[in-house]
Amino acid sequence: MGLQVENLTVYYQTLRGSVQALEDATFSIADGEIMGLAGESGCGKSTLSNSLVRLVPPLKLIRGRVILDDQELPVADVERMNAYRFRQLSVVPQYAMNAMNPTRKIGRMTSELLRSKRVDYRAALPEIKRRLDLVKLPQEVLKMYPIELSGGMKQRMVMVLSTLLNPSLLIADEITSALDVSTQKAVAEMLVEFRNREFVKSIIVITHDISILYQIADSIMIMYAGQLAEKASTETIIHSPEHPYTKMLIASLPEVGVRYADTRLTGIPGKPPLLLDPPVGCRFRHRCPVAFEKCVEAPPFLEIAKDHFVACWEVFRKYA
Ligand SMILES: Nc1ncnc2c1ncn2[C@@H]1O[C@H](COP(=O)(O)OP(=O)(O)OP(=O)(O)O)[C@@H](O)[C@H]1O
Ligand code: SF4
Ligand SMILES: [Mg+2]
Repeated sequence: MGLQVENLTVYYQTLRGSVQALEDATFSIADGEIMGLAGESGCGKSTLSNSLVRLVPPLKLIRGRVILDDQELPVADVERMNAYRFRQLSVVPQYAMNAMNPTRKIGRMTSELLRSKRVDYRAALPEIKRRLDLVKLPQEVLKMYPIELSGGMKQRMVMVLSTLLNPSLLIADEITSALDVSTQKAVAEMLVEFRNREFVKSIIVITHDISILYQIADSIMIMYAGQLAEKASTETIIHSPEHPYTKMLIASLPEVGVRYADTRLTGIPGKPPLLLDPPVGCRFRHRCPVAFEKCVEAPPFLEIAKDHFVACWEVFRKYA
């Protein structure tokens, strides 16, 4: 059970060529797991999240499979994926709270969403109210327009909506980044509460904020330039990472509990490659202090210790 992603490769087809934004991603998430997904801006986090849920042009599936609860998802077919969205998996996209339809009251929006999933709004109302209570939203929000809600209220509402049908997997893309610190914490804790109450089985939390992951994630997966670099328990990623990029990323944090902004990563010399024409092999090799000849081949993502996956030839040499 849980989520398995196998060799998922997804490009943006543009007039200038293919943007190779996700290359050969293979990983899994267990039931009950909250996995953080981190990496510099443009490394492919949202691309990965969208590929699991709504793969629309210019995004194109090149190869790979996605299996959720032992069932292969038709990710390349948006129409067929509609049957799975909200029921089996749900995404809160980056900037979702600003995308709410301003002309619809929240209650009407909720009833339309449920109707499209053939769920009766009246029958669902007691549960909706229970969940509003849980996230400390007054029931009056159902009679309000999105513009009448604060950022934190909108974000909580989006979370209630996206988990109403108890999907197996929830993907939350930067849901806390536009909020102030105390609201961020409350929204992050809500994710844990939703998992504990089994509204969702597992969660992917995408964020630039490692301190939030330190508080709530069981595991963290690090991406670099469209490739997976490392996945391990939160403890391992923070305190004993193995991939050279993860080490530099974590070392660039002044201390655990500090948000990494892209400017802080200037501590790592060089820039990520352009994904229109990425280097062959390990895409980190031009910045990697320990790169060697072998790195012109793409390293596989291998389990070097229990639940600790790394894509790095140097690490494989060490563990061989
Ligand atoms: N519609 C698009 N057309 C072409 N290229 C795109 C498109 N959307 C994203 N990209 C490119 O794909 C790559 C991955 O982008 P993505 O949005 O997945 O990054 P991200 O890790 O979510 O970044 P951020 O942290 O800034 O949200 C980037 O190089 C980006 O320029
Ligand atoms: S595979 Fe090579 S270039 Fe890539 S991180 Fe490992 S040592 Fe560095
Ligand atoms: Mg993004």
